[in-house]
Amino acid sequence: MKKLSLFFIAICFMANANAQNEVNLNIKQAGNQIISKHIYGHFSEHLGRCIYDGFWVDENSPIPNKGRIRLDVVNALKKINIPNLRWPGGCFADEYHWRDGIGPRNQRPKMVNTNWGGVTEDNSFGTHEFLELCDMLNCEPYIAGNVGSGTVEEMAKWVEYLNFDGVSPMATIRAQNGREKPWKVTFWGVGNESWGCGGHMTPAYYSDLYKRYATYARDYSGAPLKRIASGANADDYNWTETSMKAIGSRMWGLTLHYYTIPTNNWKAKGSATNFDEEQYFNTMKNCLKMEELVTKHSAIMDKYDPNKKVALVVDEWGIWTDVEPGTNPGFLYQQNSLRDALIAGTTLNIFNNHSDRVKMANLAQTVNVLQALILTEKDKMLLTPTYHVFDLFKVHQDAKYLPITFNSPEYGFGNAKIPALNVSASQDSTGAVHISLVNLDPNHKISISTDLNGLKWKTVTGQILTSEKITDINTFTNPDKVHNAKFTGAKKAGNLLKIDMPSQSVVVLELK
Ligand code: AHR
Repeated sequence: MKKLSLFFIAICFMANANAQNEVNLNIKQAGNQIISKHIYGHFSEHLGRCIYDGFWVDENSPIPNKGRIRLDVVNALKKINIPNLRWPGGCFADEYHWRDGIGPRNQRPKMVNTNWGGVTEDNSFGTHEFLELCDMLNCEPYIAGNVGSGTVEEMAKWVEYLNFDGVSPMATIRAQNGREKPWKVTFWGVGNESWGCGGHMTPAYYSDLYKRYATYARDYSGAPLKRIASGANADDYNWTETSMKAIGSRMWGLTLHYYTIPTNNWKAKGSATNFDEEQYFNTMKNCLKMEELVTKHSAIMDKYDPNKKVALVVDEWGIWTDVEPGTNPGFLYQQNSLRDALIAGTTLNIFNNHSDRVKMANLAQTVNVLQALILTEKDKMLLTPTYHVFDLFKVHQDAKYLPITFNSPEYGFGNAKIPALNVSASQDSTGAVHISLVNLDPNHKISISTDLNGLKWKTVTGQILTSEKITDINTFTNPDKVHNAKFTGAKKAGNLLKIDMPSQSVVVLELK
Protein backbone atom coordinates (compact mmCIF):
# COMPACT_ATOMS: atom_id res chain seq x y z
CA MET A 1 0.00 0.00 0.00
CA LYS A 2 1.24 3.47 -0.82
CA LYS A 3 2.46 5.40 2.18
CA LEU A 4 0.29 8.41 2.97
CA SER A 5 2.43 11.31 4.06
CA LEU A 6 1.53 13.13 7.22
CA PHE A 7 0.86 16.37 5.38
CA PHE A 8 -1.58 14.67 3.03
CA ILE A 9 -3.40 13.24 6.02
CA ALA A 10 -3.28 16.62 7.72
CA ILE A 11 -4.88 18.24 4.70
CA CYS A 12 -7.55 15.52 4.33
CA PHE A 13 -8.75 16.03 7.86
CA MET A 14 -8.52 19.80 7.91
CA ALA A 15 -12.26 20.16 7.58
CA ASN A 16 -12.76 18.50 10.96
CA ALA A 17 -9.86 20.11 12.69
CA ASN A 18 -11.71 23.04 14.19
CA ALA A 19 -14.01 20.70 16.01
CA GLN A 20 -11.11 19.29 17.99
CA ASN A 21 -9.44 20.80 21.03
CA GLU A 22 -6.70 18.22 21.22
CA VAL A 23 -4.63 16.75 18.40
CA ASN A 24 -4.08 13.02 18.58
CA LEU A 25 -0.70 11.88 17.25
CA ASN A 26 -0.69 8.28 16.09
CA ILE A 27 2.93 7.09 16.21
CA LYS A 28 3.71 3.64 14.82
CA GLN A 29 6.53 1.26 15.68
CA ALA A 30 9.81 1.53 13.75
CA GLY A 31 10.37 -0.55 10.63
CA ASN A 32 13.71 -0.67 8.82
CA GLN A 33 13.68 2.86 7.45
CA ILE A 34 16.58 5.03 8.62
CA ILE A 35 16.66 8.82 8.55
CA SER A 36 20.02 9.32 6.86
CA LYS A 37 22.27 11.73 8.68
CA HIS A 38 23.07 13.21 5.28
CA ILE A 39 19.64 14.91 5.25
CA TYR A 40 21.31 17.29 7.73
CA GLY A 41 23.98 18.39 5.23
CA HIS A 42 25.16 21.89 4.35
CA PHE A 43 26.40 23.85 1.37
CA SER A 44 29.25 26.36 1.07
CA GLU A 45 29.86 28.13 -2.21
CA HIS A 46 32.44 30.65 -3.33
CA LEU A 47 29.77 33.30 -2.95
CA GLY A 48 29.90 36.55 -1.01
CA ARG A 49 31.35 36.03 2.46
CA CYS A 50 30.69 32.31 2.81
CA ILE A 51 34.17 30.95 2.11
CA TYR A 52 36.19 34.17 2.41
CA ASP A 53 35.44 35.73 5.84
CA GLY A 54 33.08 32.89 6.77
CA PHE A 55 35.55 30.00 6.89
CA TRP A 56 38.79 31.44 5.56
CA VAL A 57 40.65 34.34 7.12
CA ASP A 58 43.57 36.49 5.97
CA GLU A 59 47.10 35.45 6.64
CA ASN A 60 48.17 36.70 10.09
CA SER A 61 44.53 37.32 11.05
CA PRO A 62 43.99 37.83 14.82
CA ILE A 63 40.86 35.64 14.54
CA PRO A 64 41.72 32.22 16.05
CA ASN A 65 42.35 29.84 13.15
CA LYS A 66 44.19 26.72 12.09
CA GLY A 67 45.85 27.07 8.71
CA ARG A 68 43.59 30.11 8.03
CA ILE A 69 40.35 28.18 8.81
CA ARG A 70 38.25 29.90 11.52
CA LEU A 71 38.03 27.80 14.66
CA ASP A 72 34.88 29.42 16.10
CA VAL A 73 32.91 28.47 12.97
CA VAL A 74 34.38 24.94 12.90
CA ASN A 75 33.55 24.33 16.56
CA ALA A 76 29.97 25.56 16.16
CA LEU A 77 29.39 23.26 13.16
CA LYS A 78 30.93 20.28 14.95
CA LYS A 79 28.43 20.75 17.77
CA ILE A 80 25.50 20.08 15.41
CA ASN A 81 27.24 17.02 13.90
CA ILE A 82 27.44 18.41 10.39
CA PRO A 83 27.47 15.22 8.28
CA ASN A 84 28.56 16.57 4.87
CA LEU A 85 29.51 19.82 3.17
CA ARG A 86 28.83 20.61 -0.50
CA TRP A 87 31.40 22.72 -2.38
CA PRO A 88 32.51 24.71 -4.49
CA GLY A 89 29.02 25.67 -5.80
CA GLY A 90 26.26 26.21 -6.91
CA CYS A 91 26.60 28.19 -10.08
CA PHE A 92 30.27 28.75 -9.22
CA ALA A 93 30.97 25.03 -9.67
CA ASP A 94 30.32 25.14 -13.40
CA GLU A 95 32.95 27.84 -13.90
CA TYR A 96 35.49 26.43 -11.45
CA HIS A 97 38.66 24.84 -12.79
CA TRP A 98 40.11 22.84 -9.95
CA ARG A 99 43.73 23.00 -11.12
CA ASP A 100 43.67 26.77 -10.47
CA GLY A 101 43.15 26.00 -6.78
CA ILE A 102 46.11 23.71 -6.03
CA GLY A 103 49.84 24.27 -5.53
CA PRO A 104 51.63 27.24 -3.93
CA ARG A 105 49.02 29.90 -3.19
CA ASN A 106 51.08 32.78 -4.50
CA GLN A 107 51.26 31.08 -7.89
CA ARG A 108 47.57 30.28 -8.26
CA PRO A 109 45.85 32.13 -11.10
CA LYS A 110 43.02 34.50 -10.25
CA MET A 111 39.57 34.43 -11.86
CA VAL A 112 36.43 36.55 -11.95
CA ASN A 113 33.50 35.22 -9.97
CA THR A 114 31.02 36.17 -12.69
CA ASN A 115 28.02 34.66 -10.92
CA TRP A 116 28.43 36.43 -7.61
CA GLY A 117 29.25 40.10 -7.72
CA GLY A 118 32.00 40.00 -10.36
CA VAL A 119 34.65 39.96 -7.64
CA THR A 120 38.16 38.58 -8.09
CA GLU A 121 38.58 35.04 -6.80
CA ASP A 122 42.20 34.45 -5.81
CA ASN A 123 41.83 30.68 -5.53
CA SER A 124 43.55 30.68 -2.15
CA PHE A 125 40.86 28.29 -0.92
CA GLY A 126 40.99 25.23 -3.18
CA THR A 127 40.85 21.45 -3.03
CA HIS A 128 43.38 20.91 -0.22
CA GLU A 129 41.90 23.70 1.90
CA PHE A 130 38.34 22.40 1.46
CA LEU A 131 39.32 18.86 2.39
CA GLU A 132 41.28 20.14 5.39
CA LEU A 133 38.10 21.95 6.47
CA CYS A 134 36.07 18.73 6.12
CA ASP A 135 38.69 16.90 8.19
CA MET A 136 38.41 19.52 10.92
CA LEU A 137 34.61 19.30 10.80
CA ASN A 138 34.75 15.51 10.76
CA CYS A 139 32.24 15.54 7.90
CA GLU A 140 32.09 14.03 4.43
CA PRO A 141 32.98 16.24 1.47
CA TYR A 142 30.48 16.51 -1.36
CA ILE A 143 32.18 18.00 -4.40
CA ALA A 144 30.27 19.40 -7.38
CA GLY A 145 32.23 18.87 -10.61
CA ASN A 146 32.19 21.25 -13.57
CA VAL A 147 30.05 20.08 -16.51
CA GLY A 148 28.98 23.52 -17.80
CA SER A 149 32.42 24.83 -18.83
CA GLY A 150 34.78 22.00 -17.89
CA THR A 151 35.86 18.95 -19.86
CA VAL A 152 35.34 15.26 -19.24
CA GLU A 153 39.12 14.94 -18.86
CA GLU A 154 39.22 17.72 -16.25
CA MET A 155 36.61 15.99 -14.11
CA ALA A 156 38.24 12.59 -14.55
CA LYS A 157 41.60 13.98 -13.42
CA TRP A 158 40.10 15.69 -10.38
CA VAL A 159 38.70 12.35 -9.23
CA GLU A 160 42.08 10.69 -9.84
CA TYR A 161 43.81 13.50 -7.88
CA LEU A 162 41.46 13.00 -4.96
CA ASN A 163 41.09 9.25 -4.85
CA PHE A 164 43.86 7.26 -6.54
CA ASP A 165 46.21 5.47 -4.17
CA GLY A 166 49.25 4.53 -6.25
CA VAL A 167 51.57 5.90 -8.89
CA SER A 168 49.79 8.10 -11.42
CA PRO A 169 50.23 11.57 -12.89
CA MET A 170 47.59 13.14 -10.62
CA ALA A 171 48.67 11.25 -7.49
CA THR A 172 52.22 12.49 -8.07
CA ILE A 173 51.11 16.13 -8.29
CA ARG A 174 48.99 15.63 -5.17
CA ALA A 175 52.02 14.34 -3.28
CA GLN A 176 54.13 17.28 -4.54
CA ASN A 177 51.42 19.54 -3.10
CA GLY A 178 51.85 17.94 0.30
CA ARG A 179 49.25 15.16 0.37
CA GLU A 180 50.60 11.64 -0.04
CA LYS A 181 47.44 9.68 0.71
CA PRO A 182 44.21 10.09 -1.25
CA TRP A 183 41.21 11.62 0.49
CA LYS A 184 38.71 9.10 -0.95
CA VAL A 185 35.89 11.52 -1.62
CA THR A 186 32.74 9.63 -2.61
CA PHE A 187 29.88 12.15 -2.92
CA TRP A 188 30.30 13.49 -6.44
CA GLY A 189 28.01 15.99 -8.16
CA VAL A 190 28.02 15.90 -11.95
CA GLY A 191 27.27 19.57 -12.64
CA ASN A 192 24.81 21.92 -10.94
CA GLU A 193 21.52 23.38 -12.16
CA SER A 194 22.24 22.21 -15.69
CA TRP A 195 18.82 23.62 -16.64
CA GLY A 196 20.06 27.12 -15.68
CA CYS A 197 23.43 28.59 -14.69
CA GLY A 198 25.03 25.19 -15.32
CA GLY A 199 24.53 25.41 -19.10
CA HIS A 200 20.83 25.98 -19.89
CA MET A 201 20.45 22.43 -21.17
CA THR A 202 17.43 20.26 -21.88
CA PRO A 203 17.06 17.20 -19.63
CA ALA A 204 17.69 14.85 -22.57
CA TYR A 205 20.91 16.61 -23.55
CA TYR A 206 22.09 16.74 -19.94
CA SER A 207 21.33 13.05 -19.43
CA ASP A 208 23.66 12.15 -22.30
CA LEU A 209 26.34 14.48 -20.99
CA TYR A 210 25.90 13.04 -17.48
CA LYS A 211 26.68 9.57 -18.82
CA ARG A 212 29.89 10.77 -20.49
CA TYR A 213 31.17 12.67 -17.44
CA ALA A 214 30.06 9.98 -15.01
CA THR A 215 31.69 7.17 -17.00
CA TYR A 216 35.17 8.67 -16.80
CA ALA A 217 34.83 9.83 -13.19
CA ARG A 218 36.22 6.48 -12.06
CA ASP A 219 35.77 4.38 -8.96
CA TYR A 220 39.23 3.97 -7.47
CA SER A 221 40.01 1.39 -4.84
CA GLY A 222 38.26 2.21 -1.57
CA ALA A 223 36.42 5.17 -3.11
CA PRO A 224 33.34 4.04 -5.07
CA LEU A 225 31.69 7.25 -6.24
CA LYS A 226 28.15 8.15 -5.30
CA ARG A 227 27.44 10.03 -8.52
CA ILE A 228 24.77 12.67 -8.18
CA ALA A 229 23.03 14.00 -11.28
CA SER A 230 21.86 17.58 -11.59
CA GLY A 231 18.09 17.42 -11.19
CA ALA A 232 14.97 19.50 -11.32
CA ASN A 233 14.26 23.11 -10.57
CA ALA A 234 11.26 23.01 -8.18
CA ASP A 235 8.26 21.50 -10.04
CA ASP A 236 9.99 20.63 -13.31
CA TYR A 237 8.69 17.05 -13.19
CA ASN A 238 9.68 16.46 -16.82
CA TRP A 239 13.33 16.82 -15.77
CA THR A 240 12.96 14.03 -13.22
CA GLU A 241 11.00 11.82 -15.61
CA THR A 242 13.59 12.22 -18.39
CA SER A 243 16.57 11.68 -16.07
CA MET A 244 15.08 8.59 -14.45
CA LYS A 245 14.31 7.10 -17.86
CA ALA A 246 17.67 7.97 -19.42
CA ILE A 247 20.10 7.64 -16.51
CA GLY A 248 18.29 5.41 -14.00
CA SER A 249 20.60 3.29 -11.91
CA ARG A 250 23.74 4.91 -13.36
CA MET A 251 23.31 7.57 -10.69
CA TRP A 252 23.36 7.31 -6.89
CA GLY A 253 21.20 10.38 -6.55
CA LEU A 254 19.22 12.97 -8.46
CA THR A 255 18.96 16.49 -7.13
CA LEU A 256 16.07 18.86 -6.52
CA HIS A 257 16.48 22.57 -5.80
CA TYR A 258 13.73 24.59 -4.18
CA TYR A 259 13.92 27.96 -2.43
CA THR A 260 11.17 29.59 -0.33
CA ILE A 261 10.57 33.14 -1.61
CA PRO A 262 8.35 35.24 0.74
CA THR A 263 6.63 37.30 -2.00
CA ASN A 264 6.63 34.80 -4.93
CA ASN A 265 8.54 37.48 -6.86
CA TRP A 266 12.22 36.80 -7.58
CA LYS A 267 12.82 40.49 -8.33
CA ALA A 268 11.52 41.71 -4.94
CA LYS A 269 11.66 38.69 -2.66
CA GLY A 270 10.83 40.49 0.58
CA SER A 271 12.82 41.52 3.63
CA ALA A 272 14.43 39.00 5.98
CA THR A 273 13.49 41.04 9.03
CA ASN A 274 10.69 43.41 8.21
CA PHE A 275 7.52 41.49 7.31
CA ASP A 276 3.90 41.36 8.48
CA GLU A 277 1.67 38.37 9.20
CA GLU A 278 0.36 38.26 5.64
CA GLN A 279 3.88 37.85 4.28
CA TYR A 280 4.74 35.39 7.05
CA PHE A 281 1.72 33.28 6.11
CA ASN A 282 2.63 33.33 2.43
CA THR A 283 6.21 32.36 3.25
CA MET A 284 5.10 29.35 5.26
CA LYS A 285 2.69 28.33 2.51
CA ASN A 286 5.60 28.42 0.08
CA CYS A 287 7.79 26.49 2.50
CA LEU A 288 5.15 23.72 2.73
CA LYS A 289 5.34 23.37 -1.06
CA MET A 290 8.40 21.21 -0.37
CA GLU A 291 6.00 18.46 0.77
CA GLU A 292 4.24 18.46 -2.58
CA LEU A 293 7.52 18.61 -4.53
CA VAL A 294 9.13 15.74 -2.69
CA THR A 295 5.95 13.65 -2.95
CA LYS A 296 5.55 14.19 -6.69
CA HIS A 297 9.22 13.80 -7.64
CA SER A 298 9.34 10.64 -5.50
CA ALA A 299 6.27 9.23 -7.26
CA ILE A 300 8.00 9.66 -10.64
CA MET A 301 11.15 8.05 -9.28
CA ASP A 302 9.07 5.15 -7.91
CA LYS A 303 7.88 4.32 -11.45
CA TYR A 304 11.43 3.69 -12.68
CA ASP A 305 13.02 2.66 -9.40
CA PRO A 306 10.44 0.90 -7.20
CA ASN A 307 13.14 -0.37 -4.86
CA LYS A 308 14.23 3.19 -4.11
CA LYS A 309 17.89 2.72 -4.97
CA VAL A 310 18.29 6.23 -6.41
CA ALA A 311 18.25 8.95 -3.76
CA LEU A 312 16.40 12.22 -4.07
CA VAL A 313 19.06 14.75 -3.03
CA VAL A 314 17.63 18.16 -2.12
CA ASP A 315 21.03 19.80 -2.23
CA GLU A 316 19.78 23.38 -2.21
CA TRP A 317 16.90 24.54 -0.03
CA GLY A 318 16.01 27.36 2.35
CA ILE A 319 14.53 30.86 2.41
CA TRP A 320 15.87 33.42 -0.07
CA THR A 321 15.05 37.06 0.77
CA ASP A 322 16.33 40.43 -0.37
CA VAL A 323 19.85 41.14 0.87
CA GLU A 324 20.41 43.19 4.01
CA PRO A 325 20.22 46.90 3.07
CA GLY A 326 23.62 48.33 2.21
CA THR A 327 25.25 44.98 1.37
CA ASN A 328 26.46 43.83 -2.06
CA PRO A 329 23.42 42.44 -3.94
CA GLY A 330 25.67 39.74 -5.44
CA PHE A 331 26.68 38.46 -1.99
CA LEU A 332 23.22 37.23 -0.86
CA TYR A 333 23.77 38.22 2.77
CA GLN A 334 20.48 38.06 4.69
CA GLN A 335 19.49 38.06 8.37
CA ASN A 336 17.75 35.08 9.93
CA SER A 337 14.62 35.29 12.08
CA LEU A 338 12.36 33.00 14.08
CA ARG A 339 10.42 32.60 10.80
CA ASP A 340 13.50 30.96 9.26
CA ALA A 341 13.79 28.58 12.20
CA LEU A 342 10.19 27.45 11.59
CA ILE A 343 11.08 26.92 7.92
CA ALA A 344 14.07 24.81 8.92
CA GLY A 345 12.05 22.69 11.37
CA THR A 346 9.21 22.19 8.89
CA THR A 347 11.50 21.27 6.01
CA LEU A 348 13.52 18.84 8.12
CA ASN A 349 10.27 17.22 9.29
CA ILE A 350 9.26 16.82 5.62
CA PHE A 351 12.61 15.22 4.77
CA ASN A 352 12.46 12.88 7.78
CA ASN A 353 8.98 11.77 6.76
CA HIS A 354 10.23 11.08 3.21
CA SER A 355 13.47 9.45 4.27
CA ASP A 356 12.62 6.37 2.20
CA ARG A 357 13.57 8.48 -0.85
CA VAL A 358 15.27 11.64 0.44
CA LYS A 359 18.71 10.43 1.54
CA MET A 360 20.60 13.69 1.41
CA ALA A 361 19.88 17.42 1.60
CA ASN A 362 21.92 20.60 1.90
CA LEU A 363 20.72 23.87 3.35
CA ALA A 364 21.88 26.93 1.40
CA GLN A 365 24.25 28.18 2.75
CA THR A 366 26.37 27.61 5.86
CA VAL A 367 27.88 31.03 6.69
CA ASN A 368 26.86 34.59 5.72
CA VAL A 369 24.81 33.55 2.67
CA LEU A 370 21.02 32.97 2.32
CA GLN A 371 19.55 30.90 5.20
CA ALA A 372 22.82 30.79 7.09
CA LEU A 373 23.52 28.87 10.27
CA ILE A 374 26.23 31.32 11.23
CA LEU A 375 26.86 35.02 10.61
CA THR A 376 30.28 36.60 11.06
CA GLU A 377 31.48 40.18 11.41
CA LYS A 378 35.26 40.42 11.64
CA ASP A 379 36.18 38.45 14.78
CA LYS A 380 32.55 38.11 15.93
CA MET A 381 30.31 35.17 15.15
CA LEU A 382 26.65 34.53 15.94
CA LEU A 383 24.44 31.47 15.71
CA THR A 384 21.16 32.07 13.92
CA PRO A 385 17.74 30.67 14.91
CA THR A 386 18.19 28.20 12.03
CA TYR A 387 21.40 26.90 13.65
CA HIS A 388 19.48 26.19 16.84
CA VAL A 389 16.96 24.06 14.93
CA PHE A 390 19.76 21.93 13.48
CA ASP A 391 21.09 21.57 17.01
CA LEU A 392 17.67 20.34 18.21
CA PHE A 393 17.08 18.01 15.26
CA LYS A 394 20.51 16.33 15.25
CA VAL A 395 19.00 13.52 17.37
CA HIS A 396 17.26 12.23 14.22
CA GLN A 397 20.53 11.60 12.36
CA ASP A 398 20.77 7.91 11.38
CA ALA A 399 17.88 7.05 13.73
CA LYS A 400 15.00 4.71 12.87
CA TYR A 401 12.05 6.50 11.34
CA LEU A 402 8.73 6.29 13.22
CA PRO A 403 5.67 6.88 11.00
CA ILE A 404 3.12 9.38 12.34
CA THR A 405 -0.42 10.28 11.33
CA PHE A 406 -2.53 13.06 12.87
CA ASN A 407 -5.19 15.65 12.16
CA SER A 408 -3.59 19.07 12.11
CA PRO A 409 -5.43 22.18 13.19
CA GLU A 410 -5.55 24.88 10.54
CA TYR A 411 -3.75 28.17 10.52
CA GLY A 412 -5.68 30.62 8.33
CA PHE A 413 -4.99 34.07 7.00
CA GLY A 414 -7.52 35.84 4.79
CA ASN A 415 -9.21 33.08 2.81
CA ALA A 416 -6.21 30.75 2.78
CA LYS A 417 -5.34 27.96 5.22
CA ILE A 418 -2.33 25.77 5.91
CA PRO A 419 -1.77 22.96 8.42
CA ALA A 420 -0.54 24.62 11.61
CA LEU A 421 1.33 21.58 12.91
CA ASN A 422 4.02 19.38 11.40
CA VAL A 423 5.79 16.53 13.15
CA SER A 424 8.34 13.75 12.66
CA ALA A 425 9.71 11.10 15.00
CA SER A 426 12.55 8.62 15.28
CA GLN A 427 14.08 6.09 17.65
CA ASP A 428 17.82 6.08 18.20
CA SER A 429 20.12 3.13 18.81
CA THR A 430 19.65 3.37 22.60
CA GLY A 431 15.86 3.10 22.21
CA ALA A 432 15.17 6.76 23.02
CA VAL A 433 12.31 8.26 21.01
CA HIS A 434 12.58 11.80 19.63
CA ILE A 435 9.58 13.76 18.41
CA SER A 436 10.08 17.08 16.63
CA LEU A 437 7.08 19.37 16.37
CA VAL A 438 6.58 22.73 14.70
CA ASN A 439 3.61 25.02 15.37
CA LEU A 440 3.43 27.51 12.50
CA ASP A 441 0.47 29.39 13.96
CA PRO A 442 1.71 32.68 15.47
CA ASN A 443 -1.54 33.20 17.40
CA HIS A 444 -2.63 29.88 18.91
CA LYS A 445 -1.09 27.14 20.98
CA ILE A 446 -1.85 23.48 20.18
CA SER A 447 -2.67 20.74 22.68
CA ILE A 448 -1.46 17.30 21.66
CA SER A 449 -1.94 13.81 23.05
CA THR A 450 -0.54 10.44 22.00
CA ASP A 451 -0.37 6.96 23.46
CA LEU A 452 2.75 6.00 21.47
CA ASN A 453 1.32 2.65 20.41
CA GLY A 454 3.12 0.36 22.79
CA LEU A 455 6.51 2.14 22.79
CA LYS A 456 7.93 1.84 26.30
CA TRP A 457 8.94 5.07 28.04
CA LYS A 458 9.11 6.49 31.55
CA THR A 459 10.28 10.08 31.23
CA VAL A 460 9.90 12.96 28.83
CA THR A 461 12.22 15.93 28.51
CA GLY A 462 12.39 18.56 25.81
CA GLN A 463 13.74 21.73 24.35
CA ILE A 464 11.97 24.62 22.67
CA LEU A 465 12.90 27.38 20.26
CA THR A 466 10.52 30.34 20.21
CA SER A 467 10.53 34.07 20.76
CA GLU A 468 8.11 36.89 21.40
CA LYS A 469 7.95 38.09 17.81
CA ILE A 470 8.14 36.11 14.59
CA THR A 471 10.59 38.75 13.29
CA ASP A 472 13.02 38.30 16.19
CA ILE A 473 16.66 37.83 15.18
CA ASN A 474 20.06 37.41 16.75
CA THR A 475 22.41 40.34 16.23
CA PHE A 476 26.05 40.98 17.05
CA THR A 477 24.91 43.18 19.95
CA ASN A 478 22.24 40.71 21.12
CA PRO A 479 23.40 37.31 19.85
CA ASP A 480 21.21 35.17 22.14
CA LYS A 481 17.81 36.75 21.70
CA VAL A 482 16.47 33.62 19.94
CA HIS A 483 17.85 30.49 21.56
CA ASN A 484 16.91 26.99 22.68
CA ALA A 485 15.49 26.60 26.18
CA LYS A 486 14.22 23.81 28.40
CA PHE A 487 10.64 22.83 27.50
CA THR A 488 8.28 22.07 30.36
CA GLY A 489 5.04 21.69 28.39
CA ALA A 490 5.14 17.89 27.98
CA LYS A 491 4.06 15.36 30.60
CA LYS A 492 3.14 11.71 31.12
CA ALA A 493 -0.52 11.13 32.01
CA GLY A 494 -0.98 7.40 32.46
CA ASN A 495 -0.02 5.91 29.10
CA LEU A 496 -0.50 9.19 27.34
CA LEU A 497 2.03 11.83 26.36
CA LYS A 498 0.42 15.28 26.65
CA ILE A 499 2.05 18.28 24.99
CA ASP A 500 1.15 21.96 25.18
CA MET A 501 2.78 23.44 22.12
CA PRO A 502 3.14 27.25 22.24
CA SER A 503 2.43 29.34 19.13
CA GLN A 504 5.30 29.92 16.62
CA SER A 505 7.59 27.35 18.16
CA VAL A 506 9.81 24.35 17.45
CA VAL A 507 9.89 21.64 20.12
CA VAL A 508 11.95 18.45 20.26
CA LEU A 509 11.06 15.87 22.89
CA GLU A 510 13.06 12.94 24.17
CA LEU A 511 11.24 9.95 25.65
CA LYS A 512 13.19 7.33 27.55
O1 AHR B 1 22.65 29.11 -3.51
C1 AHR B 1 22.75 30.16 -4.41
C2 AHR B 1 22.56 29.71 -5.86
O2 AHR B 1 21.26 29.24 -6.03
C3 AHR B 1 23.42 28.56 -6.31
O3 AHR B 1 24.68 28.96 -6.73
C4 AHR B 1 22.64 28.01 -7.47
O4 AHR B 1 22.86 26.64 -7.66
C5 AHR B 1 21.21 28.35 -7.11
O5 AHR B 1 20.54 28.93 -8.17
